[in-house]
Amino acid sequence: MTTIRRRLTFWYTVALGVTVVAFGTLLYLERRASSLRELDQRLILEAELADRWLSESYSVLGRIVTTGGARPTLDPGISAYLDAVRDYLVVTDTSGVVLALSDVARELGAGHLQRLTGVLGSLRVRKQSGNVDVGPPIGTVRFLAMRVDRAGPEVGGILVATSLDQVAFGPSALLRSMLLIAPIILAGAAVVGYWLAGTSLRPVEGIMDEVEAISDGRSLHRRLAVPISGDEMARLALTVNGMLARLEQSFDSLHRFTADASHEMKTPLMVLRAGVERALVHPGIPAEILQSLDETLAQINQMSEMVENLLTLARADEGRAPLAVEQCDLRDTIGDVAETAGMLGESSGISVTSDIPSSPLPMAVDRHRIREMLLNLVTNAIKYTPQGGTVSLRLAQEDGSIVFVVADTGIGIAPGDLPHIFDRFWRADPARSRTGERPGTGLGLAITKWIAEAHGGSITVQSRPGRGSTFIVRLPRTQGERASGAARHVEEASSPA
Ligand SMILES: Nc1ncnc2c1ncn2[C@@H]1O[C@H](COP(=O)(O)OP(=O)(O)OP(=O)(O)O)[C@@H](O)[C@H]1O
Ligand SMILES: [Mg+2]
Repeated sequence: MTTIRRRLTFWYTVALGVTVVAFGTLLYLERRASSLRELDQRLILEAELADRWLSESYSVLGRIVTTGGARPTLDPGISAYLDAVRDYLVVTDTSGVVLALSDVARELGAGHLQRLTGVLGSLRVRKQSGNVDVGPPIGTVRFLAMRVDRAGPEVGGILVATSLDQVAFGPSALLRSMLLIAPIILAGAAVVGYWLAGTSLRPVEGIMDEVEAISDGRSLHRRLAVPISGDEMARLALTVNGMLARLEQSFDSLHRFTADASHEMKTPLMVLRAGVERALVHPGIPAEILQSLDETLAQINQMSEMVENLLTLARADEGRAPLAVEQCDLRDTIGDVAETAGMLGESSGISVTSDIPSSPLPMAVDRHRIREMLLNLVTNAIKYTPQGGTVSLRLAQEDGSIVFVVADTGIGIAPGDLPHIFDRFWRADPARSRTGERPGTGLGLAITKWIAEAHGGSITVQSRPGRGSTFIVRLPRTQGERASGAARHVEEASSPA
């Protein structure tokens, strides 16, 4: 039972099944009781008619029993009237000997008759009804036995009985009917239940889809459509909207705080740097002071870079980092970066190669941002490649996209680390930034990813530990849309991931 819909259908069907069984049982009991009542009324009527006939015949004739034969019998003229009774009718004398039988009763076997006369013999009250089992093939019969007082001393009692088969359908017949009908009813109920559950859960699914689309982190400004029905779904949508508003507000203040704090730190850092630089060129400073001033300047530079990066990301989050889009030849940008990379590589003992197409590749981009993006990738490649390695840059055009590839033969990235490398402040080995072996703050790739996405593109990485890494940036070349679309990309790509 994975979904609410299936659970609802299951319980709906179970509930209906129980209802059907309870209804069937009650119906059966009620039908049986009312049939028995009708039957008893018929038996009473027949018995009383017979009693009256015998009593009146006796009062007119004075004697109605013939004792001429081997055993006493009712006068044929009188018993002829009783033949017509359509149930089993038995008239006995006071000692239980049968005086007359109706036509149907004559077909009973001796054993059956004996059981019936036995009932008359054990009569405690004047009139009694009940069930008695007379044995196969007739089984249980419903009877009414009564004493006859006014038909002379020879006549003792009358018993009228009928088979119970005709009363109502028995439990087995009911079970058979239910086994036949119930599966059809239950299958129908399951289908209806499934449809019903689906219909009532559809708005929830709609809300789930919308929330999923909003919570990808880029659309916190969006809100759910509130149904006009005013029901539970409307309340749910309103609640989620309220939550989104609060989330958006706290994200906004977080971004604003980071942006403001970074901005405020820029000026003091500039003043610090200027002060240290001025002190450095002051004549006659002892060597150890010079060294510590040098270290301070390096730290100030690293901090300024971090503050600058933080400000960029915070502005991007707020949607306040517009791209200065202009038409340019991408070969110039990558050529520029390749030159810088060559110088950096030379000092680290790493050879840098570049593969740039011979024909121009014009495209409307923010030239400075693209350069920053490529520099981030190239400095990483050089930083994470040991001496003697190679870093290669490539620019190409592939099915409507511009592709930048920065590959190195360096230390590579562990598969478990790959999903995190674009996270802010994430570094595979944070200890090294302290020792100064591979300094950094872990913001470079976060900015690189933002720049690629702000241009409507994407960045991917392939890497294996010890085998080097390859970063691929793909920018779509939909020229007509580029200039006007840039602002949209900035806004879309700027919310927190
Ligand atoms: N070419 C690469 N080879 C191996 N690991 C890399 C490579 N590029 C990035 N990484 C890993 O990804 C982490 C994040 O990179 P990112 O550029 O964001 O930060 P950083 O280079 O450490 O610092 P920053 O760029 O802010 O100065 C790095 O610390 C490193 O562990
Ligand atoms: Mg970096």
